[in-house]
Amino acid sequence: MLSNLLGLVTRYKGRKFLKLNEEIDESKVVGFGSGGEEIALYIHIPFCRSLCPYCCFNRYLFNENKARKYFNNLKRELDLYIRRGFKFSTFYFGGGTPTVLMDELLAFIDYLKKNFEVRQISVETTAREVTEENVKLLKDAGVNRLSIGVQSFHDSILKAMGRSFCGGEEIKEKVLVAKGKFDTLNLDFIFNFPSQTVEQFEVDLEIFTSLGVEQATFYPLMPSPHKRNALERRFNKVDTSREERFYQVIVKELATNGYNPSTVWCFSRGERMIDEYVVDFDDYIGIGCGSVSLFRGNFYANSFSLDRYEEFLAQGKLPIIRWRGLSEHELLYYYLLSKLFGMRIDTGKFHHKFNADIYKKLRKELLFLKFFGLIQEEDGGIALTQKGMYPVNVMTREFFSSLNGLREYCIENQI
Ligand SMILES: C[S@@+](CC[C@H](N)C(=O)[O-])C[C@H]1O[C@@H](n2cnc3c(N)ncnc32)[C@H](O)[C@@H]1O
Ligand code: SF4
Repeated sequence: MLSNLLGLVTRYKGRKFLKLNEEIDESKVVGFGSGGEEIALYIHIPFCRSLCPYCCFNRYLFNENKARKYFNNLKRELDLYIRRGFKFSTFYFGGGTPTVLMDELLAFIDYLKKNFEVRQISVETTAREVTEENVKLLKDAGVNRLSIGVQSFHDSILKAMGRSFCGGEEIKEKVLVAKGKFDTLNLDFIFNFPSQTVEQFEVDLEIFTSLGVEQATFYPLMPSPHKRNALERRFNKVDTSREERFYQVIVKELATNGYNPSTVWCFSRGERMIDEYVVDFDDYIGIGCGSVSLFRGNFYANSFSLDRYEEFLAQGKLPIIRWRGLSEHELLYYYLLSKLFGMRIDTGKFHHKFNADIYKKLRKELLFLKFFGLIQEEDGGIALTQKGMYPVNVMTREFFSSLNGLREYCIENQI
C-alpha cells in the first residue's frame, strides 16, 4: 500500500522530470563549455545479436558495417567533450551488447587511455559473448568489472524471454570462465517475469550463490507501455502485486549467503564497483545513440536514431535532441531517490552540493520516511532500513519505467 503510493508519486514526478524541451540551443547547454570536475562517462553500444522482446534500451540488430561506423562516431562525440575540457576517469560501457565487436571495443578503450587517466572500467555483456579469449582480452585491457546478463538459469524462462541462444547449463559454464578474472564479476537477473514462479526464482538464487560469484543485480521487470502489451499478449499479465514476494526472497537469500546490498538491486560480497553511476556520481555524461546525461542541473537526451546521431556528429555538433533544466525541487527529489537507491545519504555531501541542511530542505519527505520506518539516522548520514528497501525498489522501478516510456517514444519516432 505504502509502496504503491510512493510508486505513484514517483511515476508522476518521473513523467514531469522527463517532459523535455525540443529545440536545443547550444547556449542553453549550460556548463558544457567548461568541464573540470570528476564525472562518470557512460558509453552506449546499441547492438545485439538478437533482440529480446522485453528490453527497452535503444538497441539494433548487429550489423558489422554499421557497428564499425558507430564506434567511429563515438570517438567523434567523445572528442567534442574532450575539446570542452571534460575529464573522466570512470567508464561504463552499456548496451545493447558492448562486446559485440571486440576489436572496436578494445580500440576504444585504448583511445580512452590515451586521453584520460583511466581508473575504472565496467563492461556489460551477454553469456553468449563470454569466451576464454574475450575474457583475457577484456582483462588485459584493464576492465575491472564485467557484468554478464544471465536473467535466469531456467531454459523455459530463457525461452519465454527470447534468450534461447544460451541454455541454463551453458550459462553456468560461461560464468565459471569469467569467475575470478576481474575485480568484480556481476550477474544480472530479472524477476517477476510473467511466466516465472517464485519457486523457479529461488532455484536461480541457489545456483547463483553456489557459483560463488561476488555480485548480482536483480531487476524487476520494467516494460515500456508497448512492451508490456506485447508481453501480456504472449504470457500472463505483468503483475506488480507479485513483485514483493520475489524481492523478499532476494533480500533473505542474499543476506543468508553473506551478500550486502550495494544498492536496492545490487548485492555484493566485499567492496565492489557497481553499475549504477547515479549512486556514486551526482553528474554523468552519456555518449552514444540514445544515451542520457545529467550535468549541472540539466537533463539531456541524445538522438535515438543511428542516422540522426551520425548527422549531428558529421556537422561537429553534440547529438543532443532533448533537454530540460530541472527545478531545485526536482533535483532534490532525484538526489533523494538516487541516494536512497544506493542505501545511504551522506549528509555532508548533500550540504556541499546544495549548500543547505538536508533536514531543512527535505524536511517533509524525511519526516514521512522516518515515520514509516523506511530510513534511520546514523553517523554522518541517513540510511535506508531493510523495511525501506522494497518501497525504494518500487520508486526506482517507476522512475525507470517513465524513462523507458521516453525511450520508446524516441525510438518509435526515430528522434
Ligand atoms: C542493457 S542490458 C545489457 C546486458 C546484455 N545485453 C544482456 O542482455 O545480457 C542490462 C540488463 O538490463 C536488464 N533489463 C533489460 N531490459 C529490462 C526490462 N525491460 N526490465 C528489467 N530489466 C531489464 C537485464 O537484466 C540486462 O541484463
Ligand atoms: S536485454 Fe540485452 S541482449 Fe537483449 S535486447 Fe536488451 S540489450 Fe540486447
